[in-house]
Amino acid sequence: MARRILVTNALPYANGPLHLGHMLGYIQADIWARAQRMQGNEVWYVAGEDAHGTPIMLAAEKVGKSPEDYIAQIRASHEADFTDFHFSYDQYHTTHSPENRELATAIYQRLRDGGYIARRDIQQLFDPERDMFLPDRYIKGTCPNCGTPDQYGDNCENCGATYAPTDLIAPYSVMSGATPVLRDSEHYFFELGKFESLLRDWFGGKFTGGKPVMDSGVAAKLTEWLDDGLRDWDISRDAPYFGFPIPDAPGKFFYVWLDAPVGYLASFKALCDRNGVRFDDFLGADSTAEMHHFLGKDIINFHGLFWPAMLHGAQMRTPTALHVNGYLTVNGAKMSKSRGTFIQARTYLDTGLDPEALRYYFATMLGPQPVDVDLDLKSFEERVNSHLVGKWANIASRTAGFLHTHFGGRLADRFDDEGAALWAELLRQYDGVEALYEADEFADVSRRFVAMADTVNGYIAAKAPWVIAKDETRRDELQQVCSFAIQAFRLLCGLLKPILPKAVAAAEDFLGGPIVDFADARRELFGHTVNAFSPLFGRLDPKRIEAMIDASKESLTPAEQAKAAAADAKPSKKAKEAPKPMTDAAATETATISIDDFAKLDLRVGKVVACEFVDGSDKLLRFELDAGPLGTRQIFSGIRAAYGEPEKLVGRNVVFIANLAPRKMRFGVSEGMILSAGDGGADLFLLDADQGAAPGATVR
Ligand code: MSP
Ligand code: ZN
Repeated sequence: MARRILVTNALPYANGPLHLGHMLGYIQADIWARAQRMQGNEVWYVAGEDAHGTPIMLAAEKVGKSPEDYIAQIRASHEADFTDFHFSYDQYHTTHSPENRELATAIYQRLRDGGYIARRDIQQLFDPERDMFLPDRYIKGTCPNCGTPDQYGDNCENCGATYAPTDLIAPYSVMSGATPVLRDSEHYFFELGKFESLLRDWFGGKFTGGKPVMDSGVAAKLTEWLDDGLRDWDISRDAPYFGFPIPDAPGKFFYVWLDAPVGYLASFKALCDRNGVRFDDFLGADSTAEMHHFLGKDIINFHGLFWPAMLHGAQMRTPTALHVNGYLTVNGAKMSKSRGTFIQARTYLDTGLDPEALRYYFATMLGPQPVDVDLDLKSFEERVNSHLVGKWANIASRTAGFLHTHFGGRLADRFDDEGAALWAELLRQYDGVEALYEADEFADVSRRFVAMADTVNGYIAAKAPWVIAKDETRRDELQQVCSFAIQAFRLLCGLLKPILPKAVAAAEDFLGGPIVDFADARRELFGHTVNAFSPLFGRLDPKRIEAMIDASKESLTPAEQAKAAAADAKPSKKAKEAPKPMTDAAATETATISIDDFAKLDLRVGKVVACEFVDGSDKLLRFELDAGPLGTRQIFSGIRAAYGEPEKLVGRNVVFIANLAPRKMRFGVSEGMILSAGDGGADLFLLDADQGAAPGATVR
């Protein structure tokens, strides 16, 4: 029976652009949701903005905007990033919404009526000039332990001591510079201690049929906190605050972390209203649906203690599972602005790097444990090029041409004995891929993929269809080998589909139909006709990666650059160089092209194996070229007026563009373009290559 699954990813603060660190957990969530859909489950994946709190209120003020305008603008940028990285959520919403206000208020009222809310006075530092209470991060002063000035209100960056803001010597408000004063304020507390046994039951799988709700390491950490004793959680903040007012409590607002996870439900509520899904089926206390949260390791206390307690206290279901990701490092170190490794999602996209390259690389690094993931830029380039271009796309690009040239794109009607045995072997390797996705074992999925692709490429290399193709008496064999390759290619597409939605969609166009689910990928394609093949995945260009690093430095203001350079222990030499804006380089390059532009053309030598008139066309000649390792290519060329005796061209060399997208013509598919000089008509002269040039040799 299809499972019913609600999936969430942590809501980014509406306070700045997304960076590649954010993308790590988000990509994990999206891959998981897609893999669930590919098992035929009912999946609702919701996302949105975390829009409340003091930092957002102050950031808006700083740029002279209302908080509403400010968060709307950030939301648009986040949504654009998500869309361009191919996210498949079903709803994008915000915590600053009527749905969230209603839900947060209702949950609070239930907690209050259940006797889980306490009120008491606390003393807190107050900025008399700004007329507001100060969060710890907005108070600085001299460390009471080591005497270092300008330390934050909660800990010292110099000696590592932790303390209360009231312990600081000569404290001052970051907002105004004024000396803060202690003031009384009544605060509202959620009595978390009352949920200790509930939380232990939940960790122990009591509500999930014994299934663990999180990785054992995460559970151990949370249990440690439980064992230390749970303190009441302060859920109120005083005005001025950007958030929802607490009912019957003038001047008091819900702390941002109270309504943030409720934002998942608000997003889902908006989806339910739109799609006619029943909210209570998923959130009711006795719901049989599943609820999966994806989040980073820094926020496990909110999701693993407060949130399940809130849900339970409000008579709702508890989460089915927390999927926790570690932190992203780049080139083995914390992301750094001066090194240019603090990379925004938008910078990555603007440099022209393929979002699916990052999705794939992250997948190869992700497992169920929240371990930190390193984006090593050299490995990134090599792995993507080797796995996706060299191993995956290559299977189809090396064999599709033969099928089109000799068999009209039609696959064989059955496997031969060797093919059948190898196919059974591949299916064995594919078996259980659903369970790997389910368990967040994406690195294992990618290892399977590589092993299977190596098997298939080994088979193709051993069979050498480009050799078989030269022998007219071996046509059946040629069709067998190429059909098997395409069949195996489709299986790999099924395996990769949650990770590479767009590239696999292009592969599906080639294959002539979608891969509906993991089971469907196993289907045999006997006698099926495939469409023209066009390249599926471009090689990652190291120059673009460099450009991305440079651009990440350039997005800092000069003041930020100076600060960031000072903050890094050993600033790289590059960081000190004057930044060169990308746009200038682009502007001066209109009249000439770079060597990179030229390198995009895959020019090759082809040996003419056949050349003939085309029935119904007075302009075209049909060529069949031996392109060496690229196989045989069929190309239609408009040079009939210049070459009236096509059979005389057989045996000579021509130069052609090998990576031009194939074009479907009335007479068949043209797989490239042959170069000739001249003005056209009868004035056309084929280019030649001197004796000795091998078919398929690159023209540089
Ligand atoms: N707004 C809260 C989440 C509320 S969920 C109800 C928040 N926002 S955040 O923008 O700071 O982070 C969003 C997500 O990105 C979190 O899951 C966080 O752990 C993750 N990451 C932020 N920086 C990260 C890295 N450098 N590396 C990996 N994940 C990171 O927290
Ligand atoms: Zn100190």
